[in-house]
Amino acid sequence: EKEGYEHFMIKEINEQPKGVHDTLHRRLNKEEKIELDGIKLTKEDLDRINKVYIVACGTAYHAGLVGKYAIEKFAKIPVDVAVASEFRYSDPFIDENTLFIAVSQSGETLDTLAALREAKRKGARIMSVVNVVGSSVARESDDVFYTWAGPEIAVASTKAYTTQLVSMYLIALNMADTKGSISQERYTEIVNELKTMPLKIENIVKNDEDLQKLADEQFNKENAFYIGRGLDVCVASEGSLKLKEISYIHSEAIAAGELKHGTIALIEEGRLVIALATQDRLYDKMLSNIQEVRARGAYVIGVAKEGNKEIEKTADKVIYIPDTMDELTPILSVVPLQLLSYYIAVARGCDVDKPKNLAKSVTVE
Ligand code: F6R
Repeated sequence: EKEGYEHFMIKEINEQPKGVHDTLHRRLNKEEKIELDGIKLTKEDLDRINKVYIVACGTAYHAGLVGKYAIEKFAKIPVDVAVASEFRYSDPFIDENTLFIAVSQSGETLDTLAALREAKRKGARIMSVVNVVGSSVARESDDVFYTWAGPEIAVASTKAYTTQLVSMYLIALNMADTKGSISQERYTEIVNELKTMPLKIENIVKNDEDLQKLADEQFNKENAFYIGRGLDVCVASEGSLKLKEISYIHSEAIAAGELKHGTIALIEEGRLVIALATQDRLYDKMLSNIQEVRARGAYVIGVAKEGNKEIEKTADKVIYIPDTMDELTPILSVVPLQLLSYYIAVARGCDVDKPKNLAKSVTVE
């Protein structure tokens, strides 16, 4: 059932164009407007909601970080994102005017489910973004939005994540449209750009020779640092998790602006730094950060949008993603990071689909 692929993980990375396409197109009606089948939030509901909590674990939490950005930017509602195991015990501010959004591939993660129940008990409206149809999280929610990733077998989540990202954008845009907090031109522009994502992802996946080569050169590293600014920090977190969970290389993600507040002490000759620089308005700042770590001997792999070549002067190696609007880059920039982690883990001889100590679905505390 690996259909010729060596591992489920690489198969699932390759299935992302389809997952993203299906998640998107099942929600676009004839007029190219977003219609969310399982979500019944009206304008009155949304006008009442003054706070959103997005709660999840691991990779799903990283999708939530992008969700916060999208909902705040388009729907103009304040959002908090929390890891479920913390949220449960934090006595969060919740009432009938709170919208709680659980994000979960399996829909069975115990901490996420417990957080959902706690929010429900306090009166929040419960929405979920789930991949497994009929799972516990889906059953206990008022509104369910299904990702159409298809079954995900590899322990390391890939296609669930990119489809969760698309879901967060669709929910945010739909909320914004219902509330009237976005212009029709802008709305249409973003929906049209979302429609280009499957092809753009395919373009990255089909041209991964550079990433394989890089992995063969870098697989022996003991540490890696992922840095970025703005939306790139969210993707840095996901890239870092992907690498550590399947290759067992210690890795950490931080906001590039935080480097000089501590972490730069760890940058020395040969350190691997993956620097995401996809955000136009933060590009120059990222180039300075890359210079800072290069000056201390780091080997820097930059990730930038096609056409932004300035970065070649500072980074050792640059991976380009197809051009897109800044708001949507996470859907693309995570893909080379998944591939890099995968090829590094393969080069290290790791059991990619079943990393040690990890289970696909965490149903214990
Ligand atoms: C990482 C990974 C985990 C899951 C987390 C949540 O690749 O797969 O971090 O994302 O255990 O699982 P779900 O989404 O099933 O709630």
